[in-house]
Amino acid sequence: MTVCEAPGKVYLFGEHAVVYGEPAVPAAIERRAAVTAEPRADDHVRVEAEDLSLDGFTVEYSGGTDDRPDVDVPTPLVEAAMGYVDAAVRQARDAADAPDAGFDITVESDIPLGAGLGSSAAVVVAGIDAATRALGAPLDRRELADRAYRAEHDVQEGQASRADTFCSTMGGAVRVEGDDCEPVAAPNLPFVVGFDGGAGDTGKLVAGVGELREEYGFAADTIESVGDVVRTGEALLADAVPEGEPSPELLAELGELMDFNHGLLAALGVSARSLDSMVWAARDAGAHGAKLTGAGGGGCIVALDASDATETALSFTQGCEEAFRAELATEGVRVVE
Ligand code: PMV
Repeated sequence: MTVCEAPGKVYLFGEHAVVYGEPAVPAAIERRAAVTAEPRADDHVRVEAEDLSLDGFTVEYSGGTDDRPDVDVPTPLVEAAMGYVDAAVRQARDAADAPDAGFDITVESDIPLGAGLGSSAAVVVAGIDAATRALGAPLDRRELADRAYRAEHDVQEGQASRADTFCSTMGGAVRVEGDDCEPVAAPNLPFVVGFDGGAGDTGKLVAGVGELREEYGFAADTIESVGDVVRTGEALLADAVPEGEPSPELLAELGELMDFNHGLLAALGVSARSLDSMVWAARDAGAHGAKLTGAGGGGCIVALDASDATETALSFTQGCEEAFRAELATEGVRVVE
């Protein structure tokens, strides 16, 4: 039996603009998905998930997703989660050259689903890592990140960037620009996440930004401005002492850039009333800055704050279902057992 766990992430800067070739800087957070893989004697895959906001489910099938028409999948959310686990199993079989390998898989996650925190990437990264290790064919991190990207890409029909899967594999802060992905040295950034209990439709939101960009030159300029915010933020991180406590000046400057980034994202039409309320609640409570994270439309915001005040304020904010602190996860995917 092999257990691996991989972190979720927040976007410090750059979502949506990354689709148009601008850089983005996501950062891994200490909220993880754990996947257990136990090889079986047959080619069946049995998947059990406890905490994926799914009320728990168990599905057993043989072969790939295409070969399981008779499996009773209770809800669309379970169907989506199954798709990611199945894509991870396919990548592991391919990597280990074991096309008929079967597994008992258990997924336990404390990352809200589809809310901009990279839950599916964490499941895919931990799943491929656990399954390849269980087959005695562990992958190096670059290959693991690449295969996890391909798995997400397959499930999302081409609509995945490398940001989530690379960040979840490597941990810490990373920089993504097109196919170029590199770790970025970063101090111990203190995040607070506010979750509105919902999820945006990534495809629709990305398409909406695309339409604005076609229609208005200033929307294209807004996207470029997001890129400028990212480049400014990167330069601040490069000057900071890595892995230590961040200075008050750095927190203030990064926070200001996060506020700016949120304003640009709102201009591009991807914020929501719940997200704006949480962003303002965090700022009013003294956070250094706050922005939506991920596709937007609903889901999560991230605030930069080392005190408890923001978490408390968010938990009393209308529209916020859950608020929690999340330190930077310096370690990416790891073997637990
Ligand atoms: O909501 P998430 O974490 O899947 O992030 C989406 C980020 C976008 O830039 C909007 C799309 C993408 O694939 O980069």
